Amino acid sequence: METKLYPDSGVELTPFTARNYDKVMNFGSLGFYDSFIKKAIKEMEILPDDQILDLGCGTGRNAGLMCAYLGDKGHITGLDISEHMEKQFISRFKNDDRIKFVKNRIDQPFHLQKFYDKVFISFVIHGFPHEVRDSIIKNALNHLKAGGQFIILDFAEFDMEKMPWLYRFVFKTIECKYAFDFIERDWKEILKSYGFVSFTERFYLKRYIRLLKTIKE
Ligand SMILES: C[S@@+](CC[C@H](N)C(=O)[O-])C[C@H]1O[C@@H](n2cnc3c(N)ncnc32)[C@H](O)[C@@H]1O
Repeated sequence: METKLYPDSGVELTPFTARNYDKVMNFGSLGFYDSFIKKAIKEMEILPDDQILDLGCGTGRNAGLMCAYLGDKGHITGLDISEHMEKQFISRFKNDDRIKFVKNRIDQPFHLQKFYDKVFISFVIHGFPHEVRDSIIKNALNHLKAGGQFIILDFAEFDMEKMPWLYRFVFKTIECKYAFDFIERDWKEILKSYGFVSFTERFYLKRYIRLLKTIKE
């Protein structure tokens, strides 16, 4: 990606970060990320036949963990705009035809002509202006089967000023202004306004990160 769609966004990665994303997460988290992401994906409670749409799928690390819970009929479609992510994703799953990559923007309406049991979005939605998040949520809603789950793995809601200074320093240094806005919003109320119901949540890293699951009626 050469020119950013949203110049202040932290989820449109530089080519270097995109090419080395998994290593950056492992080293940057001092090894915490690997066990955390395995736990979070396990807590998605994926079923063998699940059809999963992964918005902003990145390198396919999450899809790789998810597909361990899928049977032969399960399927994952990963969407991303980064050519560096596309290369890593395709190479990771070249021998697994249950997993497909589609190079597509998630912040504009799209139609895959397929409905999913789960739409997953991990550390992506916080990085957009709030009005753009509306399109992402509608894309999720429009691609879910009735009774399907929208699952957001991202920052929880918290007061940045009440964080211990080291956490606050790291968060303020590495995150973008859209993330600061994201953590202040009531996401269950927002999702309810789109017609989502029945919320369950799991928290990680001293409750700064949340796996939020909600259902399309
Ligand atoms: C912080 S990374 C997270 C990747 C992955 N979800 C994960 O948890 O490992 C953000 C991802 O969102 C993708 N992305 C950013 N803007 C996008 C857009 N408008 N449409 C689709 N993907 C986008 C980036 O290319 C990147 O792969």
